[in-house]
Amino acid sequence: MKNKLEQLRQEALKQLEDLKESKSLKNQKEIWRALEIKYLGRKGQLSQILRQIKDLSTSEKKEVGAFANKVKTEIAEAFSEFENKFLSSKAGQSQVDMSLPGKRSSLGHLHPITLMQRELEELFKSLGFSILEGPELESDYYNFQALNIPEHHPARDMQDTFYVNWEDQEDENKLVLRTHTSPVQVRAMQEFGAPLKAIVPGKVFRNEALDASHEHTFYQLEGIMIDKNISISNMIAVMKELLKGIFKEEVEIRIRPGFFPFVEPGIEIDMKCRLCQGQGCPVCKQSGWLEVFPGGMIHPNVLEAGGIDSKKYSGFAFGLGLTRLAMMKHGIADIRLFNSGDLRFLEQF
Ligand code: PHE
Repeated sequence: MKNKLEQLRQEALKQLEDLKESKSLKNQKEIWRALEIKYLGRKGQLSQILRQIKDLSTSEKKEVGAFANKVKTEIAEAFSEFENKFLSSKAGQSQVDMSLPGKRSSLGHLHPITLMQRELEELFKSLGFSILEGPELESDYYNFQALNIPEHHPARDMQDTFYVNWEDQEDENKLVLRTHTSPVQVRAMQEFGAPLKAIVPGKVFRNEALDASHEHTFYQLEGIMIDKNISISNMIAVMKELLKGIFKEEVEIRIRPGFFPFVEPGIEIDMKCRLCQGQGCPVCKQSGWLEVFPGGMIHPNVLEAGGIDSKKYSGFAFGLGLTRLAMMKHGIADIRLFNSGDLRFLEQF
């Protein structure tokens, strides 16, 4: 019987020892529990042997009994030591250590175009303009016809348009991806009437051949100001103020005539190229000047389409390339970077 006990002792201790090598804490705990029941449980192997002691002679009882108790204590101690040292210290490791420095979760930030947009919105708000928006999927009527560009007019060729399939191509409700933010001019006039001071920042789409300065999706910011006695000099003053606000210094401009069917007269405002200080470089196509704001006095037909009496009121409109302006402000040479999702580019802002 003593041999049996000794065997049991060795077996139990060996199995515990092997268990220390086991990798998974969960398994380890389960196996430990099973082993404890196997050896120390009420129906366990040790109990079975102990139960036989009563059948021994008195002297044997004393000797074997003492030995059995020793073995029992030893195994029990090994089990509780294993639990204390091994299982609980491992469990400790798997818990959160509050003394470790935390993992900083990184916060995103706004896209450079959004930053530009917000900056301009603040500027125009300070000049008393309200901020409007319109649909990106626009009707042919608002995108062209209400802007004095009838069906089949050659002026439509100025903007490569994404037309949406429509059964009746003559239907003025047929849809296009808006090619500019100008359709919101007429929408705003219809909704708010005159006097009106508003800007419309937004996404526009053109079926362009893509290159460093052409994207199918880009951002514009439309502006209109309608009141009695508005003239082109009001527009020039607003534009100068705006450029000063963006570039934080006086910016030299020049004004050329420009054609857009929805303004009369139409102008192009150019600013001196900031990359070469007007000396001529690839970005300004060696001219020293960059087109920034097309605009002009709102055509009477457009005012009428918006329900405004063109004999009483006049106004100016301009369409500023937000994407273009962001490129100039930050010296970005390729427009395709904006929508590329390239973090090396985006993280600089
Ligand atoms: N919508 C014109 C364009 O995208 C720009 C423009 C706006 C011109 C307002 C004049 C007045 O080309």
